[in-house]
Amino acid sequence: MEGILIGLETGPVAEYLRNARWGYAFLNALHIFGVALLVGATIPINLRLLGFWPTTLRSDITRVLVPVAAIGMGIAIAAGVLLFSVRAQEYADLNIFRIKILLVLIGSIAAVSLHWTFGMILEGLTRGRRICHALVSLLCWPGTLVLGRLIAFADS
Ligand code: HEM
Repeated sequence: MEGILIGLETGPVAEYLRNARWGYAFLNALHIFGVALLVGATIPINLRLLGFWPTTLRSDITRVLVPVAAIGMGIAIAAGVLLFSVRAQEYADLNIFRIKILLVLIGSIAAVSLHWTFGMILEGLTRGRRICHALVSLLCWPGTLVLGRLIAFADS
């Protein structure tokens, strides 16, 4: 594990980012752009799964917002891995960072398995699965956002 972390930290991209002030700043902004799409799309999807806005068809919401959430997740994860590479060993030692990554894993696995089974518009989703998924997702993505912000305040 240590070897992987050192390898990440000494790679050319991490070297560039450590020295490129605006390059790092832009990457950070890209990470937050992905987070905004992901959290901004998943909150209304999950509130609809919990029964909010009953007169709006669930498929109308999922058809528009599921692709937005998926694109946001891709951007946030790709930019996050690059941010991580800059100080990989230090981040890996932080409990806040570890819990954040655990939430990302749970949220991603829950989303992929749900859409794998029920498709993009979630046809045929049972009530139990609907509520369970919405609660897990509402815990994982806003929780990841808060922990991500707290990393800057953690003691290394
Ligand atoms: C996909 C869901 C994710 C969300 C919602 C999220 C959220 C956040 C937030 C809100 C910040 C604070 C940015 C700031 O204060 O400017 C942040 C920073 C960061 N994130 Fe993420 N993140 C996600 C995924 C990831 C992943 C997968 C990784 C790495 C594998 C990662 C690594 C980082 C790093 C290294 C920072 C900079 C921390 C610092 O030095 O302050 N993130 N994230």
